[in-house]
This record gives sequence, C-alpha cells and structure tokens, in this order.
Amino acid sequence: MSFAWTVLVVVFLLPGAYCFSRDEFPSHFVFGASTSAYQVEGAADKDGRKPSIWDTFSHAGNGNMYQGNGDIASDQYHKYKEDVQLMANMGLDAYRFSISWSRLIPDGKGPVNPKGLQYYNNVINELISHGIQPHVTLHHWDLPQTLEDEYGGWVNRSIVKDFTAYVDVCFKEFGDRVKYWTTVNEGNVYAMFGYDIGILPPQRCSPSFIANCSKGNSSTEPYLAAHHMLLAHASAARLYRTKYKSMQHGFIGFNILAFGYVPITNTSGDIIAAQRARDFMMGWFLNPLTFGDYPDIMKRNVGSRLPSFTKKESNLVKGSIDFLGINFYYSFYVKNKPDKQHIEDRDYRADMEVETIDLIPNDTSIYEVPITTWILQDVLDSVKNDYGDFPIYIHENGQKTFSNSSLDDWSRVKYLHEYIGSMANALRSGSNVKGYFVWSLLDSFEILGGYEISYGLYYVDMKDPNLKRQPKLSAEWYANFLKGKPMDPKVMIKIEKNPLLPSHTFFLHNAK
Ligand code: NOJ
Repeated sequence: MSFAWTVLVVVFLLPGAYCFSRDEFPSHFVFGASTSAYQVEGAADKDGRKPSIWDTFSHAGNGNMYQGNGDIASDQYHKYKEDVQLMANMGLDAYRFSISWSRLIPDGKGPVNPKGLQYYNNVINELISHGIQPHVTLHHWDLPQTLEDEYGGWVNRSIVKDFTAYVDVCFKEFGDRVKYWTTVNEGNVYAMFGYDIGILPPQRCSPSFIANCSKGNSSTEPYLAAHHMLLAHASAARLYRTKYKSMQHGFIGFNILAFGYVPITNTSGDIIAAQRARDFMMGWFLNPLTFGDYPDIMKRNVGSRLPSFTKKESNLVKGSIDFLGINFYYSFYVKNKPDKQHIEDRDYRADMEVETIDLIPNDTSIYEVPITTWILQDVLDSVKNDYGDFPIYIHENGQKTFSNSSLDDWSRVKYLHEYIGSMANALRSGSNVKGYFVWSLLDSFEILGGYEISYGLYYVDMKDPNLKRQPKLSAEWYANFLKGKPMDPKVMIKIEKNPLLPSHTFFLHNAK
C-alpha cells in the first residue's frame, strides 16, 4: 500500500482514528492547563505564608506512601513570569490555578497577608497581559492548619463562615479580572481520601479501617465534610451573586472527579451497582447542587449518618453552580457487592456496596492509564440527562508517566490527542462542554506519588537548582494543535499504531 493510502486507512478506518483541528471548536471554547498551589508554588514559608494541612501531611511523611514535600515544588512563586511565558508560547487560552488560603490569610481568618495579595495580583496581571484567562480554584485541599487545629476544619460547621470570609477577600481583590471561580476541587475525592480512607490530608479515618489515622470516623466524617463543602460552596455562590456578580459578571462552579464506572457483567446486579457508584461519587454533590438533596440511594444506604439539609439550606445549595468542573482520568469495572455489616458500622465504601476493579488487573508493566474516551462521553451525557444542561469545563485530564521517563512522551501525546478529539465529538453531539484543561502545565509535587510521578507538559528537573523547564513532545503537540497547525500524518500513524501505547480500544477488547 502506498504511503498516502496508509495514512487514509489509519486516519479514517482504525477505531478512534480521526483528524480534528482547533477550527472545529467554537471560538469561545477555552483550552488551557491546570495546576494547584501546594503542588507548584513552593516558597512554603516565604513572605508570611503559614502551613496548610498539606504541609503538615508531607512533613510527617505523606502517610508513608512516598517522599518529598511542596516546600520548593516547581517554585512557581518565583518563576510565575517564566511559566506564563511558556503558556503564552504554547498558545493557551486559560490557566487554571488555585489560591493558597494560608498564603493569602495565614491563619485562615483575620488579617490578609499583603505579600500574598501582591503575589496573586502579580500572577493574574501577568496572565491577563498575555491574553490568558485566569480560572481560579479557591480551595484545592490545602486548608490552613490553624483551622484544622482550632475546630477540625471541614468536619465543623464553623468552616462555612471562615470559607465565606476568605472567598469574600478573593472576590473583592481579584474579581475585577477573574471571571471563573471554582470553590472546591474534587470535593468527592477530598471527602473520600481525606476522611474515609485517610490517605490524604487531613488523614482522618476510623482506626479500624486504616490504622494510620490518629483521629477521625470513617462512618460519619466523609459525609459531614462533604455536607460542609456544599454549604460553604452555596454560601460563597450567594455572596458572589448578591454582592459581586452585577459588577464583575463572573461565574461560580464546583469541581468533582468523575470516574468512569462500567458494569463488569450485563447482570442487573452489576448494572445497578454501577449506577449506585455514580450516585455515590457524583450524585453525592450533583444531586444537592441541582435538586437540593442527596440521592435516594444514599439516604437508604447511609441512613442517619447522612446529614440532612433544612429547607432553607436546600434552597441555597440548589442551583448554586453556574458551571461544573469535571476531572477525568480513568475508569473502573464495577461489581455488585452487598454489604452485610450493621448500617451504623459501615464506612463510605461499604455504603456504596460495590467492588471496583482495575481495567488492567495485576499488570504492573503498564504504568500509563488506559484511554477510555467513550466513557468520558458517557459521563457528559449522563450528567446532562440526570442533572441538566449546565456548562461543563474539563478541568483536569492527563496521562501519568514516571518522572524520569523520556521527553518524547508519546503516551501523553496519544492520550491528549484522543481526549481532545473526543471533545470535538462531544460538541458535535450537543454537549455543553466549554473548555478543556490539561493536567498539568508542568511537573510538580504529585498528590499520589510526590516527585516520582509526572503529569507535566513541561519537564522540571527537580535536581537542578534553577528548576529548569523543558518542553516535552506533548507540549509541542499541544502548541501545534492550538496554533491550528495540521496534524502530522506521521504522528497520527505513530500514536495509532504503536501497540505499546495505551489505547481506548484496549478496554473494548478486554471487556468481559
Ligand atoms: C487530582 C487533583 O486535583 C490533582 O491535585 C492531582 O495532582 C491530579 N488529579 C493527578 O492525580
């Protein structure tokens, strides 16, 4: 077959192979990259910043899972100009980053730190002067340690007042330039990992579940923390809408992680279990945000441990998002797993009554996650059908690799190529997706692996005193795509044909 025919076959006939270009996306669709404060800023004890629960967790050894901390991280605190220049070179429309609450208000409440204020003003101004929209996350899990110490942070209702006062400062100081505010990043993961299994800060869980936690209650606290996140979000949204929106014209959203859940068999037990998993992971937040109450299945399975909303609270939470942020990485098979424990003794995972099974069981040779674009499409469809047609931003999507792997990160190129292609498909089929952000702009302190794992478009040499940034192939690929350069057919062939790269077709071939 001639080369031209090979290209045609690869592009049009192979599953998932398609050409798309920037032009296919509406002009207001934003492409960006994401980071979070603790993971990239560094300067942890500089210019008045005080510790957050992440500093405490990392300095205590990251739950014995990995080494390192965010003391220096990628040093974006000092290198923000250089980083904004990288974004501009790539052609990004937007940058999603978070504000470190304890940099801005070191004790969580009370006086504002002028140097913290100056830093975020600088970052925002630098972005705007390069034509890049700031999309700001107000809380990416790094609660000021003082609030954790004083009253237990998110498990105490006092957090609602303090969070509202903190975001008031942000809206007042930055809202003339920031139009997209996300109150909480991955509320569902924060509640589950921080308060049920206790592997992330604030590392609270029942000792009988995970022995490492010194405090907590896995049966009640994940629900309590989530409840307060919803109330704090709703309070922030009300504040924005009543005090700032008419002047600033911005939007308020909430962010969740969406796992793809696929029933492992066609039995009704597994099909219902997959829906139950979605209700526990996403409905937990989306049901209250849309309808003002938790999903019925959660009420049944959790019973009196699930907090309830008063009529007033329900009305406040209902309709409190202008957009939804979705983070999407990978998917699981789901198997029905009825739980026999007494309802009062169960934790969040037992309440869900499912077993989740990796797509690639027991295969440690494949590190990168499989690509399951059709499941993301399903997630978008089901959010629309079940909750409504609100605007959606894919706030995070990206491929992990070992940080010492090659700058020629073909698996990331393939991952981004396929997911961005799936965005084009989603738009064609009527999805209200408004933007897509790669996780992550650059290598940073990864929450589930420290400096061993990398998600960056830019490699950061953590051993280099200057923390030099170098573009990976994926950065070049993303830049070409954003600048409307045609896809190189040779690249297409390489990412479609290389059997070593993860593929969405993998999943279909292996479906049980
Ligand atoms: C989830 C989190 O929002 C982010 O902090 C993390 O680094 C990435 N996803 C990858 O694990």
